[in-house]
Amino acid sequence: MDSNKTIILITGATAGIGFETASLFATIPSYHTIIGARSVEKGEKAVSEISSKNPQGTISFVLIDVTDDASISAAASTIAKEFGRVDVLINNAGLISHAPSLRAQLRESFETNTIGAAVVSETFTPLLLKSSKAKMINISSGLGSISQTLDPKNPYYKAPVAAYMMSKAGLNMLTAYDYARLGDQGVKVWSFCPGYVVTGLSGTGEKGVQERIARGAKSPKESAEGLLAVVEGKRDADVGKFIRKDGVYGW
Ligand SMILES: NC(=O)c1ccc[n+]([C@@H]2O[C@H](COP(=O)([O-])OP(=O)(O)OC[C@H]3O[C@@H](n4cnc5c(N)ncnc54)[C@H](OP(=O)(O)O)[C@@H]3O)[C@@H](O)[C@H]2O)c1
Repeated sequence: MDSNKTIILITGATAGIGFETASLFATIPSYHTIIGARSVEKGEKAVSEISSKNPQGTISFVLIDVTDDASISAAASTIAKEFGRVDVLINNAGLISHAPSLRAQLRESFETNTIGAAVVSETFTPLLLKSSKAKMINISSGLGSISQTLDPKNPYYKAPVAAYMMSKAGLNMLTAYDYARLGDQGVKVWSFCPGYVVTGLSGTGEKGVQERIARGAKSPKESAEGLLAVVEGKRDADVGKFIRKDGVYGW
């Protein structure tokens, strides 16, 4: 491995926005993208699909389930041994819970979207601090913005996904916390809203995809382009903020 490559870890990159982002980054020879996967099968499939289209890009996968501390620590040890550092951590793994009660939805949503990202961030901090250009990007949602939630002109006003919204508001606090914690040590931190895009997030598999297409969602390739701009330094002026592809959200 060329030690000058930018080492990028994307959690939850076997589908949706994470997968499209890894696919775009694989077109850039100076990047090495590590796909976070919950199974060897999914990780191998994602790497083989991406590599077959971009033989010049370098890509690998690591097993990481963000709800499992042992899995997160094992992933950090593997990456430490193989690469020695992480230049860009994208906390992307996320879900909308369809559990049968609000309490269960809150628990499931926070476990992955908020607690998972916080433990990944804490566990990978030593590897980020080994980078001279460290960036942490937390994949949030406009639905996690308190100011948007209070705005009747917001197209998603009264969206009926309380657990998801609360978990992403919590993730935004993680961004603010980590910006304060790590900013003066050279780590740049953002929350990033990828926009409303076609993925399996709304439901299981094809059902979620079809629901989103019907509601006019865009391509996750656009989210990937927005993330590339952050990694390339084009959003450095907005560090510490809650950004989207074409602007900045109020918290
Ligand atoms: N799509 C949108 O319109 C939209 C809008 C705003 C924000 N977002 C955010 O964007 C991020 C990506 O979502 P997406 O739309 O791309 O959804 P997706 O297609 O459902 O992909 C989610 C990814 O996260 C992984 N994942 C779920 N739980 C995990 C866990 N415990 N540990 C590790 N990986 C896990 C999934 O892996 P498996 O394949 O193993 O399940 C999958 O690879 C999420 O944080 C979401 O909240 C999406």
